Amino acid sequence: MRFLLIFGVAFGGLLSACAQQQAGSLHPYDYTIEKNITAAKGAVVSAHPLASEAGVLVLRQGGNAVDAAIATQLALAVVYPGAGNIGGGGFLVAHLKNGRNIAIDYRETAPAKASRDMYLDSAGNAITKLSLDGHLAAGIPGTVAGLFASMKYAKLPFSKLIAPAILLAEKGFVITAKEAESLNHTREEFVKLNTVPTAFVKEVPWKAGDTLVQPDLAHTLKLIRDKGQAGFYEGETADNIVSEMQRGGGIITLADLKNYKAVERKAIAFQYKGQTIVTMPLPSSGGVCLQQMMMMVENYPVAKWGFQSPQALQLMIEAERRAYADRAEFLGDPDFVKVPVARLIDPSYIRSRMSTFTPGTAGNSDSTKAGLTKESEQTTHLSVIDADGNAVAVTTTLNGHYGSRTVAGKAGFLLNNEMDDFSVKPGVPNMYGLVGTEANAIAPGKRMLSSMTPTIVLKNNKPIYSLGTPGGATIITSVFQTLMNTLEFGLSPEDAVNKPKFHHQWLPDVVYVEPGFPEEGVQALEQMGYKIEKRGPIGRTELIKKDLKTGQLQAAADKRGDDGAAGY
Ligand code: GLY
Repeated sequence: MRFLLIFGVAFGGLLSACAQQQAGSLHPYDYTIEKNITAAKGAVVSAHPLASEAGVLVLRQGGNAVDAAIATQLALAVVYPGAGNIGGGGFLVAHLKNGRNIAIDYRETAPAKASRDMYLDSAGNAITKLSLDGHLAAGIPGTVAGLFASMKYAKLPFSKLIAPAILLAEKGFVITAKEAESLNHTREEFVKLNTVPTAFVKEVPWKAGDTLVQPDLAHTLKLIRDKGQAGFYEGETADNIVSEMQRGGGIITLADLKNYKAVERKAIAFQYKGQTIVTMPLPSSGGVCLQQMMMMVENYPVAKWGFQSPQALQLMIEAERRAYADRAEFLGDPDFVKVPVARLIDPSYIRSRMSTFTPGTAGNSDSTKAGLTKESEQTTHLSVIDADGNAVAVTTTLNGHYGSRTVAGKAGFLLNNEMDDFSVKPGVPNMYGLVGTEANAIAPGKRMLSSMTPTIVLKNNKPIYSLGTPGGATIITSVFQTLMNTLEFGLSPEDAVNKPKFHHQWLPDVVYVEPGFPEEGVQALEQMGYKIEKRGPIGRTELIKKDLKTGQLQAAADKRGDDGAAGY
C-alpha cells in the first residue's frame, strides 16, 4: 500500500535548496509512506518514513547497518517524538558480518536519590501518577551513551549520522494526521507538566500537513555532534536537564548524568529448528521469555496444526502464560539481583512447565503467587540489514507516549517516564493493578526491567530476519508470534507483521485479541474455557527478511501506524 502526503506544494518552499541538498534523499515536506518494499542492497524499517530514509541515506553514503541504525534513531528522536528519543533508553542487538553477535544495553537507570518507596504515600499506598507524569518519573537517559557505544561498530563519522536529525529538527517536517491527533490528545498534559513553552504545543490544534520545527532540539543535537557524549551528559544540556528537575521537583543530578554508562552484554543466542535466534538479555525480560516460549512450543506440530488453528493458538497462549509468570517472579536487573537464567531455560525445567498443559482445556493462573509489571505501550523499533550482511535490531523507549510529557527545559527533548517500569511497590498490586516482585524493586543506579525484544534470526550464521516491536508487555508475545508466523507458518513478511495478534501475560488470566482477530478463533478458545478480551491494536512490528539465495531484502512496516520501509 502506498500513502501519499500531499503537502509538498504548500510547504516545499520552506526548505531551502541548500538544506534539501544536505538532506540528500530526505523530503521532509513531501514524503510517502511505503509499507512493503524489496531492495537489492540495504533496507531500513522504522516507525516513521523519514527516519527510515535517513538510515538509507547513510547506507548509500557507505555506512553499514550500525551507521544506519544510529542515524535512524536520531531521526526518530525528531520525527517521532512520542517514542523516538534522546531522553529515554533502548537496546541494540546486531549480527556483524564477521559472525559476532552484539548486545548494547542503554536502558535508563534510577537516579542516585531514588529509593524503593519513593512512589508511596505515608500510609504505604502507591501514588503511580508520580512514576508516570513529569519530572520524578524520569530515569537517567541512556540513548546518547548507547549511540556512542554503538559507534565502535560504525564506519562513518558521527557528524554524518546526526546530520539528517539536525536538519529535520531545525527546518521542520510535515506531520501526519496520526501525529497531529496524538499531539492534540496530549496537549493538556504538555501544558500541565512543563515549566517552559515546548515545540509540541501551539495556539490552535495541530492538523495533518502542519510543520513541526524544534529549534531547541536542533541546538542540543548540534552540541552532541560537536562535543560527543559530553554534549549531552555534561555542560549546557546536563545543566538544562538538572535545572528542569529543580523547577519541577525531580531528582536527577549532574553527577547522575555524568556517571551514566551504556553496557555491552552477551547477546542471547539459541537454536530453533536449524535457525539461531539472537536477542536481548537482561535487563530486558524479552530474550529470556522469548527463549522459554520457543522452547515450550518446539516439540509440538504447530506448522501442521496451522496458523491461528485452535491447537496452535492454545499452545502459544499457554507458553505465554508460563513465561510471563516466571518473568514476574524472577526477572530484574542482573547487576542488582541474582536471576536464575540457566534454570529458566533448562530443557528439563521447560518440560516440567509444560507438563500441566492440557490440549483443549484452558490452563489457569490461580496457583501462581507473584505478579506482573504491566507496562505502557509506547516504545519504538527499527531494523536494518545492509549489503555486507550486517543486521541490526534496535528497540528504544520513553515508556509512555511522549514519556513523562516533560521537556528538558531549553534542551528541547522529552524525558522518559521509565521509572514506572520498576515495581513501584514490590509484591503488592498498586492502584492500577500493577504488581511485581523484589527482583524489580527500585534501587539507585538500577535498571528497570524491560520487555523490549530486538531480535535477529540467523541461518548458517547469516541473518535472514531482523525484527522487533513496541508494545510494553505485549512486545515479547508479538515477537514470539511474528517468529512463529515466519518460521513455522510460512507467512510472508507483510502477513507476519500485520495479521491480528493475541496476548496472554499470566495475570490477568485473560487472552487479549486485537481488532480483526478471527471470530472462529475466539469461539474455539472460549469453548476451551479461556476468557477473551477484545482490545486495540497490538504493537507496531517492523521486519526485514533476507533471501540468502538471491540476496533480496523484503522489508515490512506495520500497517498499524505511520511506519515506513525504505531501501536501495
Ligand atoms: N518501557 C517498555 C519496556 O521497556 O518494556
